[in-house]
Amino acid sequence: MKIIAANWKMNNAFDETDQWLDGFFDHYSKNYDNLKNNQIILCPPAILLDYIDSELMEDSMQALEKIIESSHKKFEDFSSEELNNILIENRPFKLGGQDCHHQVSGSFTGDISAATLAKVGCEYVIVGHSERRVKYRETDQIVAKKALAALQQKLTPIICIGESKEVRDQNQHIEFVTQQFINAIDQNAKFDKLIIAYEPIWAIGTGVTPNNEQLAEVAKALQQVFVQKFANQAKEFHLLYGGSVSSKNSGEILAIPNISGLLVGKASLDIEQFIEICLSCQK
Ligand code: PGA
Repeated sequence: MKIIAANWKMNNAFDETDQWLDGFFDHYSKNYDNLKNNQIILCPPAILLDYIDSELMEDSMQALEKIIESSHKKFEDFSSEELNNILIENRPFKLGGQDCHHQVSGSFTGDISAATLAKVGCEYVIVGHSERRVKYRETDQIVAKKALAALQQKLTPIICIGESKEVRDQNQHIEFVTQQFINAIDQNAKFDKLIIAYEPIWAIGTGVTPNNEQLAEVAKALQQVFVQKFANQAKEFHLLYGGSVSSKNSGEILAIPNISGLLVGKASLDIEQFIEICLSCQK
């Protein structure tokens, strides 16, 4: 299973979302066998979450009817919890927030809690994206608190780390990302899935990506950090790569050892390209 997460950032409103969803559902039904085993996650602007959640509900109602029909049972034979689980499990993609506050509620104008994200259908949330670390001065400590807050609401945090160009030029990148990884994990955190997204800042939105050797080096180092420090806090570990992922480079990146998914920014806005990226998991 590969994890492909789409980070729309502050892009797309309702009309574009409708077009994207139409395209997605259409491609998904045509390529079902090739896409069904991957975990696709959409992280849109927060205002769109509730709307997309209801669209997904409608789509999975049809799947639910088919499942019930093929099991030769009736709706009444299932408890509401069972029906709800079937609905959630059969979503063609999962929903994620782009950030959350570490408190459950309070006077934090403009912020969103992990609890609210969970209520509008999210199962994931991105924390510590470099745009938030740099532009909103989020520290490793804040990121660790956010990841913990997400877990407390049964959301899986997608924890972003990555070095700047200066750090890379000084050849300090391995120490830097290793430390970011360690600092982001609270010692009380327990993960079903521990997801780290390695996103070098110099690769985000630039069209430049690390070469295979550079990526393999970081992926190996982060895998070692997981084994040495966090194996007893998590059932699974997944390392995603993000930064100028496109349909041209996705297959090659996914073939690098220890990389089990992608965090896709700009290319995820274009549904044709995003589906190509999702399909490259199979190649
Ligand atoms: P990009 O963004 O794919 O547009 O480089 C990736 C990200 O910031 O998550």
